[in-house]
Amino acid sequence: MDLTLEIWRQKNASDPGRFLTYQATNIIPDMSFLEMLDVVNEQLIGRGEEPIAFDSDCREGICGTCSLVINGIPHGGQKGTTACQLHLRHFKDGDTITIEPWRAKAFPVVKDLIVDRTAFDRLIQAGGYISVNTGNAVDANATPIEKEKADMAFAAAACIGCGACVAACKNSSAMLFLSAKVAHLALLPQGVPERKDRVLNMVAQMDKEGFGSCTFTEACEAVCPKEISVANISRLNKEYITAGLIEEK
Ligand code: SF4
Ligand code: FES
Repeated sequence: MDLTLEIWRQKNASDPGRFLTYQATNIIPDMSFLEMLDVVNEQLIGRGEEPIAFDSDCREGICGTCSLVINGIPHGGQKGTTACQLHLRHFKDGDTITIEPWRAKAFPVVKDLIVDRTAFDRLIQAGGYISVNTGNAVDANATPIEKEKADMAFAAAACIGCGACVAACKNSSAMLFLSAKVAHLALLPQGVPERKDRVLNMVAQMDKEGFGSCTFTEACEAVCPKEISVANISRLNKEYITAGLIEEK
């Protein structure tokens, strides 16, 4: 396959950035999207040019590091698929493909296609954890959990923290990410002791980081590679209102 790539190049956060055109030639359709970028980078390095900076780690759809907006859609628009698991057989020979970083105030561009997602780390630090005593791990079956709740918690815990939900949202809202974290811990007995503080502190931190409000367009769910449901946002709202009422007393 021969492809034309319109790739966002930006030296740093203060550089205005621009699209540059690259040719990717003799690309094997079974290559992943990131392998194709590796090939382009090898050619750039061979010519003494600056390689394209992009994020990746596991390349197996489990770490949430890859973060490309491909043809205007975070992760490229294949249902339940991260950019690293997207294969070129989904494109046609001769296609022109645009590649951009996540666009959100809370995710400033570091370089080219890499953005700073430490705002998500600070959201987790604000409450996305449970406090446990150190020592031997308790047997997994020692605490009975209803099957329905365990399944819902497991589905929410599948969030890999990639940030595609923020990139897809016209408000740059982090509600799907936050709701996945709050819901999965609120559904389990281990998450109950810190339930109230967790949701209040995490929502306060979300606002502080500059993420926008949720207007329920569901664009987040549509692009989420782990198919996290917006039903978690309803659960988050319920948790928040309940915690606020308890706070008032
Ligand atoms: S909710 Fe989905 S899109 Fe958002 S960070 Fe988690 S895995 Fe990524
Ligand atoms: S590189 Fe780990 S999910 Fe894509």
